[in-house]
Amino acid sequence: MRIALLPGDGIGPEVVAAGRTVLEAVAERFGHRFEFEEGLIGGIAIDETGRPLPERTHELCERADAVLLGAVGGPRWDVPGAAVRPEQGLLAIRRALGLFANLRPVRCRAAALGASPFRPEHLAGVDFVVVRELTGGIYFGDKRLEAVVDGERATDVCSYTTAEVERIVRVAATLARSRSGCLVSVDKANVLETSRLWRRVATRVVADEYPDVELQHMLVDTCAMKIIQQPRTFDVVVTENMFGDILTDEAAVLAGSIGLMPSASLGAGNGPWTRRGLFEPIHGSAPDIAGQQRANPIGAILSCAMLLRYSLGLEAEAHAVENAVERTIEAGALTADLTVAGGRVVRTDEVTAAIVAGLGGAVPDLAPACARPLRREE
Ligand code: IPM
Ligand code: MG
Repeated sequence: MRIALLPGDGIGPEVVAAGRTVLEAVAERFGHRFEFEEGLIGGIAIDETGRPLPERTHELCERADAVLLGAVGGPRWDVPGAAVRPEQGLLAIRRALGLFANLRPVRCRAAALGASPFRPEHLAGVDFVVVRELTGGIYFGDKRLEAVVDGERATDVCSYTTAEVERIVRVAATLARSRSGCLVSVDKANVLETSRLWRRVATRVVADEYPDVELQHMLVDTCAMKIIQQPRTFDVVVTENMFGDILTDEAAVLAGSIGLMPSASLGAGNGPWTRRGLFEPIHGSAPDIAGQQRANPIGAILSCAMLLRYSLGLEAEAHAVENAVERTIEAGALTADLTVAGGRVVRTDEVTAAIVAGLGGAVPDLAPACARPLRREE
């Protein structure tokens, strides 16, 4: 099985290396052969080829059974007025591979709750999935910047077609059916035409094809509030591209750290999704901590679990990785983003090693992990 690795920028290379280590351990333990091949994307690709998504990287992903991506972007390429930007590489690969469905699970784990600003009893049992539409909406519409009499005018077009809404609602409703049967569709139908289409299509698809699924519509501003106020009431949420981008960063605060959050981007296939997907933590490139082994590798490692499940069809292996992550968090092997003041800070590669040990069922040995503690910055 071929796995394309796109480390990208900032902490991307460190977290992708962590993911690879875990996948190699899975291959060895379960008797698989994974072939890894690396490609350039984002800022580093701009530096080396002038393009955020070189053709070679696109071809590599087309040939692969699954793609693991780190993160793109950084202040070096954040030049106002720049014609090429690292983020274009990420948007382009999602689009080129037809990956319209982005699954972003949100879970609260007891041992990580100290890092969240909420009371633990408010968060216990929070476990939902946001299904974000990934290849439509305002991120992909026409963009224009023009001169007007008193300055400039910028325009970003947001559009959705019936077919684009139908296919993402089907993914979400299928997922809802396998969970509680409750689906919340988030839009801004009191203002936006795209949202009114979204709401109509979602209502019809669920009524016609998923009569057993209970659909509730919610305005995005209300949803932003309820995610904080009543996080336990959500199970599966489906929404358009930009709302999903924003709401999942918000939801990360519930989990304790955005560094814990994985994602799977999937496309159309025979079932509700195809086998080849792109898997990436939802965090950014965190240039301020890059290269220091301080990044939380768990978002990337849980993305590998999703890769095993959705692209390689290896459910037991996915489960083993998820269990090892749970055990490692419970054992207190936490990177700086999750440790409370004065707590032990464990390095990226040490958290990864603990997860690999946990794969074999061993309780992670924390002694070596704490041999070189790092100080959390005040
Ligand atoms: C994400 C990121 C990206 C997005 C950026 C880097 C283009 O914020 O994956 O959530 O908006 O999709
Ligand atoms: Mg985002």
